[in-house]
Parts: sequence; C-alpha cells; structure tokens
Amino acid sequence: MITEKEFARRRRDLMAMMEEDSIAIITASPEKPRSRDTYYPYRQDSDFYYLCGFPEPEAVLVLIPGRAHGQFVIFCRDRDPAREIWDGYRAGPEGACEQYGADDAFPISDIDDILPGLLEGKARVYYAVGKDRDFDQHLMAWVNDIRGRARAGAVPPGEFIDLDHLLHEMRLFKKPAELRIMRKAAKISAEAHCRAMQAVEPGMYEYQLQAELEHHFARAGAHFPAYSSIVGGGGNACILHYISNDCPLQDGDLVLIDAGCEYEHYAADITRTFPVNGGFTQEQKAIYDLVLTAQLEAIDAVQAGRHWDEPHKVTVEVITAGLVELGILKGKVSELIEKGAYTEYYMHRAGHWLGMDVHDVGDYKVDNEWRLLEPGMVMTVEPGIYISPHDRKAAKKWRGIGVRIEDDVAITRKGTEVLTAGVPKTVTDVEALMADRG
Ligand code: GLY
Ligand code: MN
Ligand code: MN
Repeated sequence: MITEKEFARRRRDLMAMMEEDSIAIITASPEKPRSRDTYYPYRQDSDFYYLCGFPEPEAVLVLIPGRAHGQFVIFCRDRDPAREIWDGYRAGPEGACEQYGADDAFPISDIDDILPGLLEGKARVYYAVGKDRDFDQHLMAWVNDIRGRARAGAVPPGEFIDLDHLLHEMRLFKKPAELRIMRKAAKISAEAHCRAMQAVEPGMYEYQLQAELEHHFARAGAHFPAYSSIVGGGGNACILHYISNDCPLQDGDLVLIDAGCEYEHYAADITRTFPVNGGFTQEQKAIYDLVLTAQLEAIDAVQAGRHWDEPHKVTVEVITAGLVELGILKGKVSELIEKGAYTEYYMHRAGHWLGMDVHDVGDYKVDNEWRLLEPGMVMTVEPGIYISPHDRKAAKKWRGIGVRIEDDVAITRKGTEVLTAGVPKTVTDVEALMADRG
C-alpha cells in the first residue's frame, strides 16, 4: 500500500526540484462514456494519483512550494447527497483535507475565481501542456485574465515548464513500497496465466479463456486488468494488439495471451504462448524455442550499467540468426540485421518501462543516447516472432505461427529480479503444467 506519508514524500521531492516562484497544476482523468449515458469504470490519471492518491474525477491538484497557507491544494467536487445516492461517495473539499492530507481544498466549481489568484505573481507554471485540451483553454483564459489586469499591478506567469520531465523521472525509479505492489501484481498475473494454461480446450472461445484469467485477477484482489487482455488463437497471435478475442480456439493451433492485472494502480504485463491441445508441433516448438532463447539472453542483458538498447539488440541477433537457420530468412546474418530484414517477423521492440501505466513513463534516451539501466527501473522483456497466415515468403508450414514471451524484470541493487517467474515458459514445463489439470 502507498501510505499517506509516501504520497507526501513524493510531493515534497517534486517541489524540491521545482524552480523558485513556481506552481504546478495536475488534472484528474475525465470520465469516459462507453455508450450514451453509461461510463467505463473510472481510473484516475497516474500522475495525479502518484502525487496524492485522490481517486475522484473533476479534480485539480495544485502544488505551490512555500505558500504560507499550505503548499498542497485540491479542487474537487462538492458533497452532493442526491448525486451520491446514484454515483457513490464524494470526499468533498473537507474530505480532501481530512483523508488525503490537502492543506487547503476548494469546490471545483470555484476554480475560475480562485486559481487565477494562486497563479498571479508566480514566475513559472509546471504543467503538462496538450494533455487535456479543455483544461489548456481554461488555463490560458486565467493567464489572460491576469494579463488584462497588468495595469492594476497583476503579474502573469512568464514561463510554462513541462511538468512531465520532472514527474516522470521520479516515476521511473520505483521505491520499495512500489516494488512490493508490483511483485503482487506480477504474482497474481502469473497465477492467472497458469490457470488459463490448465483451462484451455479446443472449441473454447478466446473470450472464454480471457474470462479464466480475469476471474483469477478478481479472486486474488485485482479488480481490473492493467490493459485490454489479448487472447489470440492461431493467426490472431500475429495481430499485435488483438483485443476482439471473439474466435474459437482450434485444435493444433497455438494461443497467445498477453494479459496482466492492475493492483493498487500498478501494472503487470505477461505474455505466454501455448498449444490449445497441450502439445507443441515440431514447427511451433522450433519458433517457440527461438523466441525463448532470445528472451532468456535478453533478460541476462538487463543489468545496471548497461544500455537500455542492449536487451533489444540481443533479441535481434538471436532471432535473425535463428530465422536463417530455420530457412525463413535467407542471407548473411550481419547483413540481414543491418537491413532490418527481421522486422518482417519481429516488428516491435523488446520491451518498455513498466509501472503505474503498462507502457510506463520515463525517457529512454538522455542527451540523445540510450540511457543506462539503474536500480529502481522495471521493464518488460518480450521478443516475438509472427508469421502471418497471409505471408507469401515463408514456407507454408510456418504460416499462422505467432509467438511472444514476456516477463517483467526489476533492476535492484543486488541484481535483477524477474517478477513474473511464477508462470512456466520452457516447452517441457508448459506441457507438463497443461497436462496437470488436477
Ligand atoms: N501488453 C502490451 C505490451 O505488451 O506492450
Ligand atoms: Mn504485454
Ligand atoms: Mn509489454
């Protein structure tokens, strides 16, 4: 759990990095309609949540280092007993102070009257310009309002600074409390993948297998998936962001599952690929073992002090050499790598940062160079090979095979920790688990 003390530390650390005479403004996520007047379950914006843990929409967080009446200000919805009967409890400004530690809180309906006063006289505004267009316009209107009063002595802010730069660098480095939560998200997700391996049967629909996973997420205390679960049988595994999950699974095909739960606002992200009938064919095994070798070697390359790009390079080398050996690519390995010939079958990068967002924030390059890996970073390692059923170049026997294997790796002071090691991935171990259905 992230304690109130931890949220306060984050705000303190951010304010310590802000320049003098400045103010930071962070907005909550809007609610998103699903159809007409029904909404998707609400998920707070990660930046907003990271700094205060306040879970409601229509809220604005303001940090004003050095403000005498309090540095941490929240604007939020007022209490409304009639609406609360329909939509649930609201903290209200009083609750924002009492439960979330705000120094000062105001109704969001008063923001036009109050925020210009907080902005006035500040030299710099830290803000994520362009993230919320409506709010951008409000902010510009408030600044113009102050400009309009310049002759009366009002001083508008002169500088807008990208908040993401400071905040996302903080989020990139996970503290022990965050790692504990991520371990739990990973463990629940690994268990769910094991359950799916044991539940799959030819004829089952992809969404039914999805239900097996998500059933476990909820049973284990993770209310939602961290992203839309991908369950693709046969050639559907070659569609990287396949989420329709509405086809029947065929005997003799592989199924690729890319799914992870969100636990206390932190994501897990696991992919496993396994045979619908419990046994790999020779061709499936050949591709699978190649992806697995690439993944294991790339995980070995995840080490503090090495470049972000190194694990990716390793996967490119192993996969290109392996595809040549299998006769799927033809030519000299070094030339094929230079030409990027592998991108026909391996068209994404080997991983990404992982945290509150599945594709988490944080720069991958610093001063135009791939950054060095450091303790506190968490990333995925997820090479794949996808030979589309429509491919004309590969021999027929390979077509329709899509394999990805993905684990979550934390870099710690002691080395690296594979958070998702609880779900098997060698052919022998996968087949053994699938055969063991109790
Ligand atoms: N599930 C999205 C990804 O693996 O990047
Ligand atoms: Mn994934
Ligand atoms: Mn991923």
